[in-house]
Amino acid sequence: MNDSAAPEADALVVFGITGDLARKMTLRSLYLLEAAGRLNCPVVGVAVDDWSQERLRDAIDEAARATGEEEGPVDEEALDRLQNRTGYLRGDFTDPATYQRLAERLKGCSRPLFYLEIPPSLFAPVVAALGQAGLTSGARVMIEKPFGHDTASARELNQELHRVLDEEQILRIDHFLGKQPVLDIGFLRFANTLLEPVWNRDHVAAVQVTMAEDFGVEGRGGFYDAVGALRDVVQNHLLQVIALIAMEPPGPAGDAAALWDERIRFFRRVADADPAHCVRGQYEGYQDVAGVGAGSRTETYVALRLAVDNSRWAGVPFFVRAGKALGERVTEVRVVFKQPPGFAADGRTHRGTPNQAVLRIDPDAGLRLTLLSKKADGGTGTQEVHLDLPFTAELGKPPTPYERLLHDALSGDHALFTREDSVEETWRILQPLLDRPPAVLPYPRGSWGPAAAAALVQGHPSWQQPWTDPTPPTPNT
Ligand code: BG6
Repeated sequence: MNDSAAPEADALVVFGITGDLARKMTLRSLYLLEAAGRLNCPVVGVAVDDWSQERLRDAIDEAARATGEEEGPVDEEALDRLQNRTGYLRGDFTDPATYQRLAERLKGCSRPLFYLEIPPSLFAPVVAALGQAGLTSGARVMIEKPFGHDTASARELNQELHRVLDEEQILRIDHFLGKQPVLDIGFLRFANTLLEPVWNRDHVAAVQVTMAEDFGVEGRGGFYDAVGALRDVVQNHLLQVIALIAMEPPGPAGDAAALWDERIRFFRRVADADPAHCVRGQYEGYQDVAGVGAGSRTETYVALRLAVDNSRWAGVPFFVRAGKALGERVTEVRVVFKQPPGFAADGRTHRGTPNQAVLRIDPDAGLRLTLLSKKADGGTGTQEVHLDLPFTAELGKPPTPYERLLHDALSGDHALFTREDSVEETWRILQPLLDRPPAVLPYPRGSWGPAAAAALVQGHPSWQQPWTDPTPPTPNT
């Protein structure tokens, strides 16, 4: 994983280029990379659909034009370049002839990047077929979650991939790791004296992670019903964010290996999740969504408490909640500090409120610090105030996560791709909830999930109203 020395890919092969993810993310990201002059290799799209080269050109055209106003007018020359460098190869993924034809196309290339945007059940067979066709030496393979559906299947998948590939050849995408505020966590924590010394059990009362989405699963009921909130976003996105919030600083090399070594050290200190500290919910109307099984017990909401057994965090609860069809769309991490001692002023004793540091990941990235201040009305009252850092306004517009990750994959930089041990360890943490899932409680659309989630935080700071302008952060349960 010597990333700086990793060679650039000399071809990109996208399996499943006619699919939804390619239409929504990959083609658009390729266009943005092309427009930025950061795409330098031929692209081959493979799929079973009866598409012509023209049809693929149209799909690229649509994706480029859908990038929207924020990206400015379409760069017609870049669009043309991308269309010219992208070819279509029709083929069944289970047919060895597909790989023979692909080998023909890749003649002269020695470092292809294969991007598998295909159902997970096909990861291992496609990788095996690539191996049999002699296409994997010098190659890298990028795969999309889910990486298994529990600890055993994650291990099995890793073993199957390793029959053909070394770990250094595998790039597992978790697109949250490409989000700018997530990338910023280490910098905010370790490079600021205002935060670094207080980021531990002496000062922190609790950490609350919220991923609320204000839409349901319409259009993907079949996929979602087999997965649920815990597997869909907690095992991957949110546990990775927690690791960045809580891990120790990586070793001095600061490279991908140092980062992942430290992250895995953290995951190993997270205790198995306890079903007694977990609430599952399902929004009303979920079972009417096309593709969802009648009587489904799949959770569209989950809240849980995690405990970390190390000297930095012992006794500090990490609460996580994630749900569909909630009242707002917001993803944030909230570090709630301990209550300060009372102090005397204006002839009375004031009780300070706990400070909070909030990292908002979506929709608008930002950092908020809450402080207590004296009111300016001449009285003796106090008021909670905010110091807000809106990332885009202050730091500029970042690349989209897929654009960044695709570029890193092409360049062979592993830092933002999850490693096999972290995938297996995150499943291990959640496995008790899969083995003994708590009952699923109904909740109304547009609410904050089942009321039972309030009991989960009893004895600790209550769930805070997430940072959704212009609402002030007051308890919401
Ligand atoms: C995906 C999940 O991984 O992440 C979706 O499958 C979820 O259910 C999505 O909506 C959220 O990502 P983002 O970047 O759109 O907030």
